[in-house]
Amino acid sequence: MAPDGKGLAPQESPDRESPDRESPDWAAAPEGATRPRVVEARSLSLTFETADGPVYALSDVDLDVERGDFVSFIGPSGCGKTTMLRVIADLEQPSEGRITVNGVSPHEARLNRDYGYVFQAPALYPWRNIERNVALPLEIMGVPAAERREKVRSHLELVNLAGFEKKFPWQLSGGMQQRVSIARALCFEPNLLLMDEPFGALDEIVRDHLNEQLLRLWAKTGKTVIFVTHSIPEAVFLSNRIVVMSPRPGRIIDVIETDFPTDRDLDFRETADFLEVAHRVREGLRAGHSYDD
Ligand SMILES: Nc1ncnc2c1ncn2[C@@H]1O[C@H](COP(=O)(O)OP(=O)(O)OP(=O)(O)O)[C@@H](O)[C@H]1O
Ligand SMILES: [Mg+2]
Repeated sequence: MAPDGKGLAPQESPDRESPDRESPDWAAAPEGATRPRVVEARSLSLTFETADGPVYALSDVDLDVERGDFVSFIGPSGCGKTTMLRVIADLEQPSEGRITVNGVSPHEARLNRDYGYVFQAPALYPWRNIERNVALPLEIMGVPAAERREKVRSHLELVNLAGFEKKFPWQLSGGMQQRVSIARALCFEPNLLLMDEPFGALDEIVRDHLNEQLLRLWAKTGKTVIFVTHSIPEAVFLSNRIVVMSPRPGRIIDVIETDFPTDRDLDFRETADFLEVAHRVREGLRAGHSYDD
């Protein structure tokens, strides 16, 4: 239980309505069938031209993310994790290479509202209550008020914040605020969730709890998640694919696939399977000189 007494996962209740009820279509696919590609990047490079000269933020990145994946990018500060997420979200343009998101350009995917974005800080408006913070993207999209209310209600329930609609952000703990931002990113029902160190500023106990709850949310909704982190345990615990990155220039050193049970809990981090993958991530970081002075 989190210190605030609330979790992120949907409560177990057979007759409870979830805002994302379709079971993932790929889940029923025959074994060996390929899942739809959500992100496909080939030979992607991005160089920032600055007054001090070029900064090679990404170099020759190839990446495949399939529907229903939970992919983590892990690497030291400055290795291009946020830049990669921003390219997927059409907030940066690659200098070279190509990328598609849901089979179209990142620009078209953005216009289609194919993804929700969760930032490191919750970025809630202090003058809007929780309900109106979550409703903001829906207001911008022109969703009618009644439908808006229903979507906000069901998504606050999904992150276990039912009853907090009229509170203001400053009346909530950091973990609760981050759950509000997750509800906001999910409320227009994108199939892709981009998360840039969403729990980086939280203490370890809250973070552990939200990791567990996010895993359940992912298993339940079948969303595709691309998650940025500095933390080896967080990456290994959450992901079915871990992308290890290295700096100067930012590139991919290793991609590790895992096949852990989806109902794993925090104790799973003490198993030999977990420790073996964590070791491989650390080796990848070392090979990429992430531990050098
Ligand atoms: N708008 C920009 N202009 C110039 N350089 C930039 C810009 N954005 C990022 N960079 C540089 O690109 C590199 C990659 O930055 P990025 O923010 O992607 O790293 P990161 O892996 O997310 O780091 P952190 O873990 O600290 O968040 C860094 O060297 C950074 O200084
Ligand atoms: Mg970053």
